[in-house]
Amino acid sequence: MRHSLALVTLGVGLVAGACGNDSGSQGGDDTGPAPRATWYQDVAPILAEHCMSCHQAGGIAPFSLTDYDDAVEVSEMAAHMVDTGQMPPFDAREEADCTPRFGWQDDPRLDATEKQTLHAWIEDGHALGTEAEIPTPPTTALPGVSKTMTPTVGWTTSGTKDQFVCFVLDPGNTQLAWVTGLQVRPGNDLVVHHAVITELTKQEDITTVVAQRGIGQPWDCSASATPGDFVINVWTPGNQPMQTPPELAIPLVANAKLVMQIHYHPAGQTNDIDFTSVDLRYSNVWPRKMYFVAAIGNELAAPNLEPSPDEAPGAPVQFKIPANAPDHPEKMFRTLDSLGGLTGVKVFSVNPHMHLVGTHISSKIVRPAARGTDPQTECLANGGWNFDWQRTYIYDAPIDQLPSLEAGDRIEIACRWNNTLDNPFVQRMLHDSNLPPRPIDITLGEQTTNEMCLEIFGLAVDAPANPAPLGLPFELPDVAAFRSAMRLP
Ligand code: HEC
Repeated sequence: MRHSLALVTLGVGLVAGACGNDSGSQGGDDTGPAPRATWYQDVAPILAEHCMSCHQAGGIAPFSLTDYDDAVEVSEMAAHMVDTGQMPPFDAREEADCTPRFGWQDDPRLDATEKQTLHAWIEDGHALGTEAEIPTPPTTALPGVSKTMTPTVGWTTSGTKDQFVCFVLDPGNTQLAWVTGLQVRPGNDLVVHHAVITELTKQEDITTVVAQRGIGQPWDCSASATPGDFVINVWTPGNQPMQTPPELAIPLVANAKLVMQIHYHPAGQTNDIDFTSVDLRYSNVWPRKMYFVAAIGNELAAPNLEPSPDEAPGAPVQFKIPANAPDHPEKMFRTLDSLGGLTGVKVFSVNPHMHLVGTHISSKIVRPAARGTDPQTECLANGGWNFDWQRTYIYDAPIDQLPSLEAGDRIEIACRWNNTLDNPFVQRMLHDSNLPPRPIDITLGEQTTNEMCLEIFGLAVDAPANPAPLGLPFELPDVAAFRSAMRLP
């Protein structure tokens, strides 16, 4: 086996500290101080844990990081992407203006020691170390799968434009089921860029959507909202499964259907057919809390939208991102008049949502006063926005300590956009919409050429008592009624 590449300058090597006494090197010989990190012993295990799930042959990333030579070739760029928080993709940010009280579950970012190891390996000349087996990337399998749903007709991507394709999936439950785990399993890792799973809960909607779309059949859903009144999960490649503690479960009402919206990135190639599956885990324990959703944001005009600096003084306050604005902000808020009868409401997860042109999104809660362990004002979520890497962020904290939500609380959402050609996503938005490469004014809406500023909060709310002993049917609180009670859009 080859030894370290001996590119070490003495000055750098001596900072080491770790293995002080075994080198005894004198000027002129070729055994410099021992490298602080080697490929086999230190770096490959870090890349296996944080990078290789995507950066491997057949993975979604454009190059592999599984081999020494490949890793050496891109090492500087890799360290830069890690330092700037661009890789692994995870857009939550802890910033002076907004840092949530808790961390996030399954946060894939490197810690400070891992970053130092990567840098030391590069500075000390990419030492190879003693050949050893490279760990496999962590499994993303959901433990205890109860049900797997796969489309009956797959989808073959082609062309240079991103495609948004929906499928209705049938869990086949004729009675209420409690779900405590969900995972998306892409069929063709090369092209599946993200997936949104929603639940259809109302019988009328289920009947209409199934009659229109069938079960397991793909349809192009780029031009309209994905059906479903309940976003369960937003998945990106490499994600750990969504899992809830046993005391919290996602209600799947009798005869519910799930809708899977897949964002495909064909990259100009004709690719192999994709059949992406969704795994569910059911629980037979009646939970204390159930999962529920509240989407807040997307305010069109005053009074819930604040004036933006790009608006002329006195002009009507409107959600509008002017062409060529490099850092356009919109700030909006909602005071929750009522929680529509829900009790014990805690914020469990956050799905930020914008379209292509967005660059940043954050949310805060302002309570009338501090409440128990909840401060009066708190940052709920904060992060950069990259359309390709949207996901569900779940707090890493016990349910009872999660931020609480009560009537009278005010939620504030702030978003920013870069609507210039410097933003590659502006170019992509124009290309995908068959428009000339010139930025356009952007307004609120569903289309690719529109934008959004929305936080979809996953809530943990008190579950109704187990109705079985009383012989009652279970009814999910009506999402639409809840929204209108809360005066949500
Ligand atoms: C979830 C999948 C995923 C993970 C995990 C991941 N990457 Fe990537 N990486 C990608 C994709 C996809 C691209 C292509 C650019 C894009 O889509 O953002 C990329 C691009 C890159 C690039 C090239 C950037 C450029 O400007 O060309 C580097 C370097 C990189 N990744 C390094 C890493 C390192 C180092 C890690 C681990 C610390 C990592 N990636 C983890 C998916 C991933």
